[in-house]
Amino acid sequence: MRIDILTLFPKMFDGFLSESIIKRAIEKKQVEINIINFRDFSKFNNAQVDDTPYGGGSGMVLMLEPLVDAIEHYKTKDSKVILLSPEGKTYKQSYAYSLKKEKHIILVCGHYEGFDERIHNFVDEVMSIGDYILTGGELPAMVISDSIIRLLDGVIKKDSYMEDSFTTNLLDYPTYTRPREFRGLKVPDVLLNGNHEEIKKWRKEEQLKKTEEKRKDLLQ
Ligand SMILES: C[S@@+](CC[C@H](N)C(=O)[O-])C[C@H]1O[C@@H](n2cnc3c(N)ncnc32)[C@H](O)[C@@H]1O
Repeated sequence: MRIDILTLFPKMFDGFLSESIIKRAIEKKQVEINIINFRDFSKFNNAQVDDTPYGGGSGMVLMLEPLVDAIEHYKTKDSKVILLSPEGKTYKQSYAYSLKKEKHIILVCGHYEGFDERIHNFVDEVMSIGDYILTGGELPAMVISDSIIRLLDGVIKKDSYMEDSFTTNLLDYPTYTRPREFRGLKVPDVLLNGNHEEIKKWRKEEQLKKTEEKRKDLLQ
């Protein structure tokens, strides 16, 4: 899979691309990520990409032309272009599963007051990562990319994500590690007896219990 991220702030991605699982996935060529500064597509001498809003009001609006030129430069017949915007569909794990099947994703990060409304004619989907406002689309682009990359073949073991929260309509089961007891808090006996059938049954029951307690909405 290839992910192209159109942004005005490429350095924000330095840490994301150079640590842990994402770094390894890039090294092993399980994913290719290109960070593209769409300022490079500005036709102005001073590389301007934003302007004041028609009709007045505060803040700057991203101009269409550099963004559309950048999208059209990278887009192929296999591309899915996703605009990051608070007004989009709220991102969920089920979208990560469907996006992992794509060959090429282009994520478009806004900034300032956001986009010229006509950008909607040049993208395939609009996605939000939740009902709050961030300064730019860079964190949403990282959130979406990360959630997809960890599902790509070979990036992490399938066993370790198949029981993750939201993979079914349940939250994950509780996990413990050493020591067996910490300040009187004990690891449940069932996890220490080596009986895998019993452990599996207990985990399923705990998943249900936890979901019932914390996220009843998922069960409906
Ligand atoms: C300050 S926001 C613009 C907010 C816009 N004026 C509004 O009220 O919907 C700047 C950019 O950050 C990104 N952004 C902010 N919050 C986001 C969210 N919850 N999900 C996805 N992108 C977001 C978008 O790309 C947006 O264009």
